[in-house]
Amino acid sequence: MRKQPIGIFDSGVGGLTVFKEIRKKFPFEDIVYFGDTARVPYGPKSRNTVIEYSIQNARFLLQCGAKIIVVACNTSSSVALETLKKVLSIPVIGVIEPGVISAVNNSKNGKIGIIGTEGTIRSKAYSQAILKLNNNYEVFAKACPLFVSLVEEGMENHEITKIISNEYLTPLLKKKIDAIILGCTHYPILKHIIQQTVGNEVTLVDSAQAVTNELEKILSPETSETGCDKFYVSDNEDKFRKIASRILEREIESLINVKLGESWYLA
Ligand code: DGL
Repeated sequence: MRKQPIGIFDSGVGGLTVFKEIRKKFPFEDIVYFGDTARVPYGPKSRNTVIEYSIQNARFLLQCGAKIIVVACNTSSSVALETLKKVLSIPVIGVIEPGVISAVNNSKNGKIGIIGTEGTIRSKAYSQAILKLNNNYEVFAKACPLFVSLVEEGMENHEITKIISNEYLTPLLKKKIDAIILGCTHYPILKHIIQQTVGNEVTLVDSAQAVTNELEKILSPETSETGCDKFYVSDNEDKFRKIASRILEREIESLINVKLGESWYLA
């Protein structure tokens, strides 16, 4: 079981925020990461398209020998998780539920903001999951589609990102929320800017950490072996490598470009 890797996928670099937490918590596990950089962003795409892409991504990770799949993409988690659980015979973990539990634990006044892609917000997956836990909560959702492009372009410290953050988040602040779920795995990369916009009174909930708690229930952390990483993308590996090294604060070694729709080549 330990020789098989944990499989993680996202539409691009965003899932690396989840990868980073998993790597920290499980240094001995092998991990295979797939970023679907040829088809990013998933946020504006239809439900059926995202489900189709998610199944292809998961199948690829299965072919890499994954023993468990982490859907490190909120857009996929909100529309495709149930289908993935049905079609795959290995455990599949999404990012919505862990994030919701953490938000509910962090909000004192019961007013929670959710930011995510258009697809995630449209699906209402977060609002429904929060209200299922406690229907006295008030949930305010806001799609922030430009955030994904800003991250994919490596503009996490650019002045324009501050202006856009202000534009997106001011309406939420007017609702007196005291916690915001970063409902897209790209957003933790903008955490410093988002926190600056909303102020320190508002807790930012990053589901990446919550996901590791879920994994802990399935995997056992005791060993001294060191795990290795393999990264795959469907396009633009140089761009991925550059942004990944900033997010992970180290260079990535094994990075392979795989062609979608063809039989996957595993090095
Ligand atoms: N990082 C993804 C998410 O968590 C997808 C962003 C996108 O591709 O639009 O939703």
